[in-house]
Amino acid sequence: MSMKRLMTSVMAGGLALMMTVPAQARDFRLGLITPPPHRWTQAAEAFAEDVKQKSGGEHSIAVFPSQQLGNEAQMVQQLQTGALDMAFLTVAEISNRVPDFGALYAPYLVDNIDQAAALLKSEAATDLLNQLPSEAGLVGVGYGMAGLRQVMSRDTLEGPSDLEGKKLRITPFEPIRDFYKATGAAPTPMPLPAVYDALANGQIDAIDMDFDSILIFKFYDRSDKMLISNHMMFPMVGVVSGRVWKDLSKEDRKLLQTSMRAQLDAVIDHFQALEKKQEEELRGLDITIHEATREDFADAIAEWEGIWSEKAPSLPKLRKAVAEIKGS
Ligand code: BEZ
Repeated sequence: MSMKRLMTSVMAGGLALMMTVPAQARDFRLGLITPPPHRWTQAAEAFAEDVKQKSGGEHSIAVFPSQQLGNEAQMVQQLQTGALDMAFLTVAEISNRVPDFGALYAPYLVDNIDQAAALLKSEAATDLLNQLPSEAGLVGVGYGMAGLRQVMSRDTLEGPSDLEGKKLRITPFEPIRDFYKATGAAPTPMPLPAVYDALANGQIDAIDMDFDSILIFKFYDRSDKMLISNHMMFPMVGVVSGRVWKDLSKEDRKLLQTSMRAQLDAVIDHFQALEKKQEEELRGLDITIHEATREDFADAIAEWEGIWSEKAPSLPKLRKAVAEIKGS
């Protein structure tokens, strides 16, 4: 069945069920790629606890962190068949399936973490989620995020020109691949759990990463030159399988939505609150640090725009929202 037809029947079936079927006890499963200490995983656990309490113990949610159910591409397939109920996914994987989400990765779309937080809570960003049922068979409940992206390297990194020819780890998705290709680097897609070993065994020279993950995974032990560039935001999205959603009662949908949204908002607040402290912590370590700005990346940004302004039609709407955030 095509995704569009699937979601039409999701909506129709959902409406019929809302009227006829009482809430049933469910044992849900939620997958994500981050390990237990990561804030996303803690939010998933808190969501599970909240749903258990609010359903009077009727529903349970088992959380599977650290790619236990497979990588994000595999989890999306499971969500589409209904084999997996829910996931917290990087928007990276979503943008591989729905290119318009690439708009969220426009280099320097936002200037700082506060603007990223405000943008992800804006109507312009949440409107994008409406594409997920028909385009991917997923119900997008809301956004979380991680910190802004930086670069760490084993060799000197004084500015974008030092990226030339470097095997640079990226999260596997196209907008970031195109950005680094435009800098002359050799982007190497690799999921988060594989990064430490790849740095340790010399498979890669540099990584694209956020402050929080650099600290949690101690990537600075293996790459002690950092370019603080803040070049991109890194949204996450909480999703429910469309096939699962269609069988849920109105009450259960509301419970999952409200509870998941509260935890996703808390994730955004967490990264917003910690970004500066994490930067200071890293600046206090024995790391060589340089900084780069939007102007330093101007050529790469122009090349990126040439590719993505067509692929991601929501870009002007997001830029307008950012302009409003800056003006408020
Ligand atoms: C990454 O791929 O770099 C990443 C994924 C999830 C959370 C933080 C970082």
